Amino acid sequence: MKIIVTNNLEELSLQAANLIIEQIKTKPNSVLGLPTGHTPLIMYQKLVQAYVTGQVSFAQVKTFNLDEYVGLPRTSPDSFYTYMRQNFFDHVDAKPENIFVLDGTAENLADECANYERELENYGGMDLAILGIGQDGHIGFCEPGTSWQSRTMVVTLDQTTLEANAKDLANSSVMPKEAITMGLGTIMEARQIILLASGESKREIVNKALKGEASEAVPASILQTHDNVTIILDKEASGQ
Ligand code: GLP
Repeated sequence: MKIIVTNNLEELSLQAANLIIEQIKTKPNSVLGLPTGHTPLIMYQKLVQAYVTGQVSFAQVKTFNLDEYVGLPRTSPDSFYTYMRQNFFDHVDAKPENIFVLDGTAENLADECANYERELENYGGMDLAILGIGQDGHIGFCEPGTSWQSRTMVVTLDQTTLEANAKDLANSSVMPKEAITMGLGTIMEARQIILLASGESKREIVNKALKGEASEAVPASILQTHDNVTIILDKEASGQ
């Protein structure tokens, strides 16, 4: 596990964007796993800038988002689909047919999960997954107690996640209590993983996930058992 401590979120974001660009240069049709949340927002801005200035093209890249709320239509301002379009997809040359985001309004969610796994497998799995971390240690929406073998599934969100994420809802949407997420087993099959954490509120959980016992109680601690992980922190999250 490689740990990079940066001075601030700006630097963290630049380092993350550079690793993604490097991956795409090595393999233009890379398969990426992508996160939402506050932490990767500037990283997406850096990727857009890199595209606009001709440093990278996403034309052949395939993207699979980690998770989505159950019950929010894609058109909802609070769906992760909308987040991805507004912050990234609409500003780069990613092709709609190469963009995969779980549909939390699918009539049959079990089929939606199975299809997602199948699509991912068809493309050879993820070359690089970029992750954030929840205050309870979740990655994607895999909450504490999630099986390390889990595959894409529907989950009930923990109270801490409901409280943390409800603050972000843009309008009158009711905070979804469930989500659909890649499983820990799915995420761990990515050939390379980058985890981003910023701010003091993540310090304790980052410390537990990286230095504590690897166990299902702290989902992100599973990364200790992956052989190609880079953790990018800012000073506040690292405690340095
Ligand atoms: C969200 C997402 C996660 C994300 C995490 C942290 O709910 N499902 O993928 O990493 O919570 O978000 P933030 O970066 O806003 O702290």
